[in-house]
Amino acid sequence: MTRADHLTAIIDLDLPGPRISRHVYGHFAEHLGRCIYGGFWVGEDSDVPNVRGIRSDVVDALRALQIPNLRWPGGCFADDYHWRDGIGPRDQRPRMVNSHWGDVVEDNSFGTHEFMDLCELLGAEPYVSGNVGSGTVREMSEWVEYLTRADDSPMAALRRGNGRDEPWRVPFWGIGNEAWGCGGNLRAEQFASLARQYATYVRDHGDNTVYRIAAGADSDDLHWTEALMRSFDQAGLGQSPAAPFQALSLHYYTMTGSWSAKGSATQFTTDEWYLALARAAHMETLLQRHSTVMDRYDPQRNVGLVVDEWGTWWDVEPGTNPGFLYQQNTLRDALVASTHLDAFHRHADRVVMTNIAQTVNVLQAMLLTDPDSGALVLTPTYHVYEMSTGHHDADALAVHLKDVPAVETASKELPLVSASASTRGDTALVSISHLDAAESRTLVVDLRGREVTAHTARVLTADRVDAHNTPDALDRVAPRPHDDAVRPHPRGLEVTLPPASFVTLSLTLA
Ligand code: AHR
Repeated sequence: MTRADHLTAIIDLDLPGPRISRHVYGHFAEHLGRCIYGGFWVGEDSDVPNVRGIRSDVVDALRALQIPNLRWPGGCFADDYHWRDGIGPRDQRPRMVNSHWGDVVEDNSFGTHEFMDLCELLGAEPYVSGNVGSGTVREMSEWVEYLTRADDSPMAALRRGNGRDEPWRVPFWGIGNEAWGCGGNLRAEQFASLARQYATYVRDHGDNTVYRIAAGADSDDLHWTEALMRSFDQAGLGQSPAAPFQALSLHYYTMTGSWSAKGSATQFTTDEWYLALARAAHMETLLQRHSTVMDRYDPQRNVGLVVDEWGTWWDVEPGTNPGFLYQQNTLRDALVASTHLDAFHRHADRVVMTNIAQTVNVLQAMLLTDPDSGALVLTPTYHVYEMSTGHHDADALAVHLKDVPAVETASKELPLVSASASTRGDTALVSISHLDAAESRTLVVDLRGREVTAHTARVLTADRVDAHNTPDALDRVAPRPHDDAVRPHPRGLEVTLPPASFVTLSLTLA
């Protein structure tokens, strides 16, 4: 490990950069394990307090995060999903097999109306993922019409017959999902053509304008991004009416092992702590490389990059269904999240939206629900999102880090501090992730360009790097005031960073 005496973060408070869209803080809910059923949806007859079948405690917890959008119904499930199975009286809806996730029977009791109700309760904008793999162009076109059309068109009339008079607003639409894999095993050029075709029929009805997102690359697959970018006619990029779609997606998951043995969520060595964080830091490289390819075709950055699946993917908790992807969430997951968010902030001019996978009970969840007691657990990752709401729709500020120590991992060298900042009006928020598993450190925050008249600080940390919350210990990892650890410094502020911590500094500016 290399060491330095004057770890410093320089921030020019008067030089705001691109806007960090609040949609960078988006979420994802798939029909997978206990995400929808038992997570969001308990049904109207449940003993668990609910509004029209949707868990009230889950809604309240997510409202505190101001979640901007929710992606649904998949994931891989989306390319098996036929929306007409999920409308009309619940007891008459056809059943299907959820082949990807546990091979369980899906009764379609949570469908289009329930999802739109959920979004309204959350105050979140819907991001519907359309079926390209096993669906038809007509099916997708009619779903958009059903959701968003106001007059007496056939689909609007069908919606009214199912109890919803007014059309909904659906601003985001996915054209397929992982088309290189579970979404059809297509080749890049083949999908690029199909995406153009499907997107043509995802129409804007009335004043509902759809932002169409074509299923993008897996991790390092630059060829996929290149093929989609090549499929644009030069006259019709991004927001142009001639553009077939407005954005491409990207998926990348963090694990310490391989797809066959991903690593335990809670039992890991110090080396695996650093390895996970180094693998998470690969997101920065991916954003740089995919953006470089996109820049060749779109130097004005009109086409958005939507990282609509990311986060940790560990081996499932022992004793749980391997197809349900239920995993615990420790302080390590919190820092994986915070360092990803730093990367997204740095690329705010290209990254218009992201969706961490997945909101409740699946992969790197915000919330875990106990199937026996019904208890709701807020995960460490939840707290990172709550501590970061000040970045929503704020202007990114560059953070220049100096003399950052680093550690060698089996993946790459990992700098032990990551940071990002933003400003909105007379406030600024600085996020600092300290990745050292054992030692505390002092950081000088060199604040330039505007006077800071007040500051408050919070910290998320714990006495163990594998600390996590459970129904019996709900607040083992929870944010605490950190004001005592912040001191004036001739160049701004000096803050003590405990080992394995996420610190936020909220500044009031003159
Ligand atoms: O998020 C779980 C799965 O991961 C999604 O269904 C799929 O798109 C990806 O492979």
